[in-house]
Formats: sequence, structure tokens, C-alpha cells
Amino acid sequence: MLKSDYVYIDLLTDSGTGAMSDRQWSAMMMGDESYGGARSFYHMKDTITEITGFEYVIPTHQGRAAENVLFSYLVKPGQVVPGNAHFDTTKGHIESRKAFAIDVTVPEAYDTQLEVPFKGNVSLEKLEKVLKENQGNVPFMVLTVTNNTVGGQPVSMKNIRETCELCHKYGVPVNIDSARFIENAYFIKTREEGYADKTLREICKEMFSYADSMTMSAKKDGLVNMGGFIATNFEGFLTYGGMNGRDMDALAVGLKENIEFEMVETRIKQVHYLAAKLDEYGIPYQRPAGGHAIFVDADKVLTQIPKEEFPAQTLTCELYLEAGIRACEIGYVLADRDPVTRQNRFGGNDFVRLCIPRRVYTNNHMDVIAAALKNVYDRRNEIKRGLEITWEAELMRHFTCQFKRLG
Ligand code: F0G
Repeated sequence: MLKSDYVYIDLLTDSGTGAMSDRQWSAMMMGDESYGGARSFYHMKDTITEITGFEYVIPTHQGRAAENVLFSYLVKPGQVVPGNAHFDTTKGHIESRKAFAIDVTVPEAYDTQLEVPFKGNVSLEKLEKVLKENQGNVPFMVLTVTNNTVGGQPVSMKNIRETCELCHKYGVPVNIDSARFIENAYFIKTREEGYADKTLREICKEMFSYADSMTMSAKKDGLVNMGGFIATNFEGFLTYGGMNGRDMDALAVGLKENIEFEMVETRIKQVHYLAAKLDEYGIPYQRPAGGHAIFVDADKVLTQIPKEEFPAQTLTCELYLEAGIRACEIGYVLADRDPVTRQNRFGGNDFVRLCIPRRVYTNNHMDVIAAALKNVYDRRNEIKRGLEITWEAELMRHFTCQFKRLG
């Protein structure tokens, strides 16, 4: 509910908040706004095909619109859609159609202090159980790279391949939720055996070669302020989609810029610079640091605040009060209520996400963020009470939820 004018450093999201380059702005001037067959569309489409291998592309105004278009066609009431920690809009698009989103992330993801290289992976055992028990009732599986909800954690190539093979064995297609696929490719290159000498382009091609379709929020790894798409290997509905010609040109250039190793490495190293500062101060977060953000483990900071009083949302408010820094809760508020029992879902992690926009802040800003968080951390024992929800929407409550401060 905060006005951005009241924010000093804005870590709410890395979505649409990056700075476009001079080349992207120049491309916008060349936009072709023809109603049909626009040059800008082909510029974008050819770039996407070149990077992902997918032949058919439908532009949408952002990622959730891509989900809405694809899911309205694929998801029926009572069906089951497994995924490695579905993003909130993804889950919303499944649950609003009276279907069920079942999490099949590896259990390691829920132990924040465990250092494993691919914490975003799918548990093949959990996935197979869902596929076996719901045969004929699973329209597709959602594989999210990087896995935002558990901390921007990557999924290994081996896991992508095995997940797709397992789904295909049961006749289930795989849709890759691809918002941060280039960051995922960076982690495969730097952490997975056999990929050090491959380019990010080669890695991305291979990642998508195992899957059947992708939905993309281009506001992240596409380096644009607005945009998204669906891409597939099967021809479906033909539409001119939901983007301006100029925005499609900017996206084509953004993808080409971001798939350069040095570009994405600079970005991820900034996130890891912030992580190193938090290590210095002993502040617990999801380890190892992910691609786009640091996820502070609020349960381990505000230990005296019960789950019912939302520790991560409380810590988010404290950080704002301390230094005007706006972070974002990825925890119990966002987890929403179970659609059947209407109980709060307290089963996952309770994080404060410090999300870093691309090409916007310097490492000096990272120093300020770390120092502000340290100040809050040092007085954590004085924060004895949390928050109570005074109003919430039925679905996706976190966008508009209202709270009262207790104590
Ligand atoms: N999938 C993932 C993994 C996302 O992180 C997001 C958005 C979406 C889909 C939806 O895309 O915003 O373009 O409609 N994540 C933003 C975030 C909002 O802050 O993490 P969108």
C-alpha cells in the first residue's frame, strides 16, 4: 500500500523495475505498429526461437496474462497441476479454476541453512506420486526456473531433463515458467558438471528442448518494463497478442543483452555481494543466495513472534521504518489460505525478500541495505509482537491485505 514516493531503496521486486539500455530505447523508436505481420513481432519471435527453440510465440502483456491464456485452455475444475513451488499468480490461476496446485519441490528447499547447489529442483519421488495417483487428471506440470518462491533457487539441467522424462512417461506435458531462465542457465554453467564450457545460449536451448511450452514474464530476464509471452512447439490459437510493436522490439534487444554471460554475472554477483554483507552480520537467509534476491529467514530472526502474527511481514515493516527500504514478504501472508479448509498455510518458509532490480542500484546501496537490516537485527529482541490481519481478499490476499500492529 506504500506510495513509491515514500520509498528510499525499492526492493519490492525485480519485475519491470530494471533500467532499459540505450539500445533498447533506440529499438523502441523503430517499432512497427502494423496490425498484422509487424516487423517488430518477427524481430521478437525470431529472437525467442533462436534462444529457446520454440517455434510458435504469442505475446502477452505480462507473465500472468500468459498463464491466464494458456491455463484457461488447459485447466479444468478438479484437476491437479504439480509444480516446484508455483509462483503466487500461477497458483492463483490454477486455484481460481477450482483445480489444485501441488508442490513437488525437493525437501532441502525448506531448510534455509542447508547449502546445496540446486535447491529449486523437483523431487522426482513427490512428482511421481502425484502423477501416479492422478492419472488422466493432470493437464500439465509447471517447472519454474529459477524457483522464485523458495529463494530464486536454480534447477539443474539433470533435474529438468528427468522431470520432463518422468512427466512424458505419464503423458503429461511440461510448461516451463521461465521468468528468470537466463539466471538459471548461469547457475547451470557455474555449478553443474559438464556445463562450464557451454555458452548461456547453448544451455538455454537444452533446457527448453526437454519441455513442451513456456510462459514468460519478460519483465525479469527480458529486461523490459512490461511484456510476456507463451511459446510452444505446437500450433494452437493464432493471435496478434498483447504487446505494442515498440515493446516487442525492446524485448528482443533485452533478451539478446541479458543472455551475455558478463551481463547476468554482474547482476548475480551484486546479489551475492549483499549476501556476503549479511554473512558478516550473521543475518540468516536462504542459503546459498539465489539469483534475483536475498530471502531473509524471518522465522529465525523474530523467533519470539508466533506464525499467527506473521514474522516476515513484521520484519518487512521494521526494515521500512528503519531506513525507508521497501522489501516484500514471501511467506505466510503470500501463502494464502487453503482453498478447502480456509486455514492459513504455515507449512512453507517465511521470508523477507530483498529483490534487486537489474541495472539500477550500486553496491553502495547494498551496503546501506545490509546496515539497515543489521540495525533491525540488533534490536530484534525488542520486537515482541507482530501483526494481525484486519482485512483480506479471498484470493491473492497479499496484494491488498490490511494489518494492525499488535503490542
Ligand atoms: N512466474 C514467476 C516465477 C514470477 O516470478 C512472476 C512474477 C510471474 C510468473 C508473473 O509474471 O508479474 O509478469 O505477471 N513475479 C514478480 C515478483 C511479480 O515480484 O516475483 P508477471
